[in-house]
Amino acid sequence: MSPLPTDTVANPIDLMAWCRANKDEFKPPVSNKYLYDGEDFFAMVIGGPNARNDFHVTNSEELFYQLQGDIVVVIREGDRLRPVPVREGETFFVPGGVPHAPTRPPGTLGLVIERRRPAGEIEHQQFYCDNCEALVHDQAFDCADIVEHFAQAMEAFWADPEKSTCPECGHRCGKPAPVARIEFEPEIRVIREGEA
Ligand SMILES: [Fe+2]
Repeated sequence: MSPLPTDTVANPIDLMAWCRANKDEFKPPVSNKYLYDGEDFFAMVIGGPNARNDFHVTNSEELFYQLQGDIVVVIREGDRLRPVPVREGETFFVPGGVPHAPTRPPGTLGLVIERRRPAGEIEHQQFYCDNCEALVHDQAFDCADIVEHFAQAMEAFWADPEKSTCPECGHRCGKPAPVARIEFEPEIRVIREGEA
């Protein structure tokens, strides 16, 4: 194995100093910034609040490390949704094939590491009913297209009454407001802007 030229190796990064220097990037609508954008994997820092209710499903694993503040990652287990609190300082590992939806309150920062997914591999965007937890919609993407089309597919889903109405209970799965805060006790409750 030949040695790497030293000019391709980036210096170590003081992560929290980097977050402070880039704090304006962690705001909606994007709320994320690449820390490393490698060929095998990439790492992003993601802030809050986010304003989405889609679930992401890939064949590959994702590692969460919560840097600042507490979030909830909702995962699909069997035919139920389970909210998993990921507190500041905690890691959370999502295996491949598990639908997951992070809800991030204002002021939070988290690191997410994902495998680079090649063109031709398929990943999914799914929506589950807030009321009865049934699957409302499943959209498959080629990974080659997902960066460009993921956000617009979400908007198209929210805007389409037919697609976004639960087939089981008739509840409309509409565009969510940004997360305002999360109550963890006595039970996990995500409160969005405009809600009590
Ligand atoms: Fe429903």
